[in-house]
Amino acid sequence: MSDESRGERPGSAIVGSDHAGIEGRRTAASILRDHGFEVTEVGPSEGESADYPDLAHEVASRVESGAARFGVLVCGTGQGMAMAANRHSGVRAAVIADAFTAEMSRAHNDANIACFGERVIGIQGIEALLEVFLRTDFEGGRHERRVGKIETGVAER
Ligand code: RB5
Repeated sequence: MSDESRGERPGSAIVGSDHAGIEGRRTAASILRDHGFEVTEVGPSEGESADYPDLAHEVASRVESGAARFGVLVCGTGQGMAMAANRHSGVRAAVIADAFTAEMSRAHNDANIACFGERVIGIQGIEALLEVFLRTDFEGGRHERRVGKIETGVAER
């Protein structure tokens, strides 16, 4: 059961994009607001260009500090955003292009940033997959241990 269906307030979220993801960013911000999040939106306006790592670092910093519970990043493919965001401590950014990954990135990996490629899945894809991401809770249990090992950077076996 999600926090939302338990009646808890979802908290804050931040959404960023480069020039390739402006419409997707606006769509994602509106979906997050519909889910009750307080949303901050960062990125260029139409006709402007931006380097995706700048937005990825801005969004990931807010998640890293705890100022935002979730982040959403939209660029052409989602890949560059995830690469940059995952340099931040405690950030688990997943590139999502299908419903199974949207669900598992939350249920098993406790992803806290969803990265979308607007040129790959389009606006309808972002809408559908962000809904799945937001409605799925982390399962915990054995996944808690595994997620904890992501941050260590060393093999324990
Ligand atoms: C911008 O043209 C493009 O490279 C960027 O949006 C993204 O796809 C990078 O990963």
